[in-house]
Amino acid sequence: MVEVYELWIVIVSLIVVKLSHWIYQWRNPRCNGKLPPGSMGFPIMGETFQFMKPHDALQFSAFVKERILRYGPVFRTSLFGGNAIMSMDNELNMEIAKTTHIPGVPKSITRLFGENNLFVQSIESHKHVRSLTFQMLGSDGLRIRTMKDIDLLSHKHMEEGARKGFLDVKETLSTILIECLAKKVMGDIEPGSAKELALCWRNFPSGWFRLPFNFPGMGVYNMMKVSIFSNLISNIYMHKLNDGGRDGIVSWQARKRMMKLLKEAVLKKITSGEELGEFFKIIYGEKDTMSVDKAIEYIYTFFLIANETTPRILAATVKLISKNPKVMEELQREHAEIFRGKKDKEASLTWEDYKSMTFTHMVINESLRITSTVPVVLRTPDHDIQVGDNTIPAGWIFMGYSSVHFNPEKYEDPLVFNPWRWKGKDLSALVSKNYIPFGAGPRLCVGAYFAKLMMAIFIHYLCRYRWSMKAEITVTRSYVLMFPHGCDVQISEDTKVDN
Ligand code: HEM
Repeated sequence: MVEVYELWIVIVSLIVVKLSHWIYQWRNPRCNGKLPPGSMGFPIMGETFQFMKPHDALQFSAFVKERILRYGPVFRTSLFGGNAIMSMDNELNMEIAKTTHIPGVPKSITRLFGENNLFVQSIESHKHVRSLTFQMLGSDGLRIRTMKDIDLLSHKHMEEGARKGFLDVKETLSTILIECLAKKVMGDIEPGSAKELALCWRNFPSGWFRLPFNFPGMGVYNMMKVSIFSNLISNIYMHKLNDGGRDGIVSWQARKRMMKLLKEAVLKKITSGEELGEFFKIIYGEKDTMSVDKAIEYIYTFFLIANETTPRILAATVKLISKNPKVMEELQREHAEIFRGKKDKEASLTWEDYKSMTFTHMVINESLRITSTVPVVLRTPDHDIQVGDNTIPAGWIFMGYSSVHFNPEKYEDPLVFNPWRWKGKDLSALVSKNYIPFGAGPRLCVGAYFAKLMMAIFIHYLCRYRWSMKAEITVTRSYVLMFPHGCDVQISEDTKVDN
């Protein structure tokens, strides 16, 4: 007869064998060819923690640098619960950007955007929704539809900041963005809903893809879980938000609450026959293909991406300017000239004014170059791709870095912030073979013109003051740009440049 302890030995041995097999498979994933060199890290977590370790925002992380030295420019890893290939090979990046259509977003993050999101669906719906978006955010759309709103909001917020004596760059641009987009989506909405929406966005957990595994207690899970206590918590949450308190905020309510707010505002308007915002009308206009839910989900994703990128890049740009007195001086000169040229000093900026900001465009281009220390081409190949002896397997996430931005053959002293290197170059181009801050190919960022416009207008109003940023303010990266000491600028009514 088999003794109990013998049975236990058999069970434990089976578990150990199974576990070892699983770990072996994890470390040596299947591939119809030879995988690029690299390590898959620990099961499930992969190398996510090492990858997310904060680093100097103006350089590639130690994670990337070490692996390039160890494995070469193309290597494999595992991040956010998915298998990934990282590439510093610019030619390969451009090739994949042009030929691969499926976005490279780990499943855990796709869930946050919504499984039915138009951006992760078919090529046709993706093309369609992109062309609709360009009606709004392409340069004609911006000139006709959006520029004035950004101008008025930037002017207003800058004056408010000057009255207070300081202004948080990231928060302020985030508020401008939300106020501008909310109006474009929902038209005029009740001040209460607008305020609540803005608060939800402002307090949205910014590290939304820091730990996006769908485990209880972790980022995405927390944001997505539907709790029976949701109504109760929601009241407490909104109470805290209205108090302006940020500590202890129940972050997982943010997504749900925002989707609900957007939907309620839109449905209310549809039922009462009230006018919706232009953006919603453009997106929803084709009722045969678009449900309200799909339109809202798309718009939500859009808000999320816009809010996680531009305010941070702008804050980093302002920091770079503050550290370079010559750049600051040249900007003050350019904007004083635009201001002096205006008969009516309170008049909004025109499209011609925007186009005339040559040096500002040089500063923005340079800032986008030097802050692009994250992957900019994110795709999932639908078939195996052969690269020399190695194979990039179908279904893996491809993460292409803008290594070309730091190539000394293309940019002299690439680690130096030098806007003058853009002199005489085409400043309106969003992408070239040596410049890819907004990605490339069919998935080139749809918000690129909008982002550049917002940054330029903000810089214009900032430069109507003498301003400074404290030296202790630093910019780090943990995938997104971070500001451990905040990103306030000091401005005041006394320092307004009087012309
Ligand atoms: C300076 C700010 C921004 C930067 C650096 C940036 C960068 C990027 C990058 C690198 C991509 C991926 C492209 C690829 O895989 O080839 C992307 C995609 C995207 N961006 Fe931006 N972005 C910015 C601002 C914005 C804004 C303001 C919006 C919305 C208003 C936006 C909306 C999107 C969308 C919707 C996509 C997905 C496009 C697609 O899959 O077709 N971005 N962005």
